[in-house]
Amino acid sequence: MRIGVPKERAPDERRVALVPETASRLIKTGLEVIVEAGAGEEAGYTDDAFREAGAAVAGAAAEVWGADVIVKVQAPTVEEAQGARSGSVVVTLLPPGRSPDEVRTLASQGVTTFSMDLIPRITRAQPMDALSSQSNIAGYKAVLLGAAVLPKLFPMLMTAAGTIAPARVFVIGAGVAGLQAIATARRLGAIVTAFDVRPAVKEQVESLGAKFLAIELAEGGEGEGGYAKELSEEAHRLEQELLREAVAGADVVITTALVPGRPAPKLITEAMVQGMHPASVIVDLAAPAGGNCELTVPGQEVVRHGVTIVGEVNLPATVATHSSQMYARNLASFLGTMVRDGELAIDLNDEILSAACVTHGGEVKGAAWKV
Ligand code: NAI
Repeated sequence: MRIGVPKERAPDERRVALVPETASRLIKTGLEVIVEAGAGEEAGYTDDAFREAGAAVAGAAAEVWGADVIVKVQAPTVEEAQGARSGSVVVTLLPPGRSPDEVRTLASQGVTTFSMDLIPRITRAQPMDALSSQSNIAGYKAVLLGAAVLPKLFPMLMTAAGTIAPARVFVIGAGVAGLQAIATARRLGAIVTAFDVRPAVKEQVESLGAKFLAIELAEGGEGEGGYAKELSEEAHRLEQELLREAVAGADVVITTALVPGRPAPKLITEAMVQGMHPASVIVDLAAPAGGNCELTVPGQEVVRHGVTIVGEVNLPATVATHSSQMYARNLASFLGTMVRDGELAIDLNDEILSAACVTHGGEVKGAAWKV
């Protein structure tokens, strides 16, 4: 079985799906790896490092696309999909419902496609959880971006010039990204407060040294699979009341609130932005899903009412060495479910493979793409 690693061509995508360390591990199990020249360059992995790991390096993308399994970070473009071989397998990040034309093309080419975004969060699949590995990195980087833009220090400093008060960071949404943002802001010395509609995270927030804001929601904020659910109008109003004061008191607000399959909830209104101190910062990690702040412009950094609003849509790509390394480990673990004795053996009755399957046998299988 041969695994192909094309160079990512999406703008600002610096990650690569396999790194030499993982390639070497896969090769030791009897698989072959072929990497497009320059695929790892922007993430800090040279062609020579791949060669030393035992991989072949190909000058032409078409050679890589001839492999049995193609591993990607971003979904293939329609053009790439048209070059995919019938019977081959593509494994990539692919958020539910996204890239419908590309998905249809993959199906009509007879490609079996798996989305790393659809892997169920069951114990056996934890090492494959790319959503968590990439969110973790995004949470970390969001704090660094906020700290870089904020014209204040994060830690309390006691100097000959007197005492400097620590920065106040407010994190909305304490899932994987939010918890890492809390931990990172604490390491930099900020005073951190956090809020989530799932009361279950209170203990985790407090164990990181942050204060948890609580509201009593009659309906409870937890939905299926431990994820949040969309709030009723009344609960949304209650939440906004609570947020108004917390947002106004923060130097940096980091928002990470997402509800699976829904647009990101709009939690920070224009009036709340107006109520913030001048020169404070919002880093909106929900930007790819439309943003948690009304004024976020996905993909851009804008200043509104004196507040800088960062709407970066691909923070993991800005930490490409480690995000690629973690993604590659997630992928290698996932590939383990479809290899038997060095050969491709896809069993769509397997809980993980069936949940992650987007196209197979000429058809679109993923429910999110059928609507
Ligand atoms: P996510 O990315 O879907 O959402 C981020 C956070 O936003 C969540 O904590 C959610 O409760 C919160 N949120 C949604 N609407 C909100 C609102 N209106 N106001 C404030 N906060 C709001 O979630 P993520 O980070 O993927 O994790 C979701 C859950 O899955 C967590 O409990 C996490 O611990 C769990 N998980 C389980 C894993 C496993 O068992 N293998 C692996 C990773 C996460």
